[in-house]
Amino acid sequence: MKVLVINGPNLNLLGAREPEIYGKRDFAALCAFIRESASKLGIDVELFQSNHEGAIVDRIQSAIVGFDGILINPAAYTHTSVAILDALKAVCLPTVEVHISDLSKREEFRQFSYVSLYACKTICGKGFDGYSEGLSFLKEYILNA
Ligand code: DQA
Repeated sequence: MKVLVINGPNLNLLGAREPEIYGKRDFAALCAFIRESASKLGIDVELFQSNHEGAIVDRIQSAIVGFDGILINPAAYTHTSVAILDALKAVCLPTVEVHISDLSKREEFRQFSYVSLYACKTICGKGFDGYSEGLSFLKEYILNA
């Protein structure tokens, strides 16, 4: 089983970026955590991070070949990007949305997610653990599809 894990803009600055919200561990630690979690679940992962909406759309489109599912933290594009939503709908792969912070306790503009209109599950506010929970959910979802 192969899953594409996508992290959106500014997540590359984890650790330095608003640590009171996103924690003190950096992006390299997140990538290591995702790889370890995937390995324990027997999932083959490919990691992709970009600060650019079009690059994320391109990566989603190319996942049509060779991937069974997508785990995505679209970051700020969560709240703005019809293009990312449309790309996910076009490739039609099972998709889990994850957010490090708890969006329900944050600003009004973070309360709406375009990606949630497609994702089969959204996990918020669990820090890095949200990624392992998302991978585990995705695995069961794909196996039972
Ligand atoms: C985020 C939440 C978004 O609102 C924000 O723009 C991010 C990160 C999260 O992981 O909590 O960049 O997706």
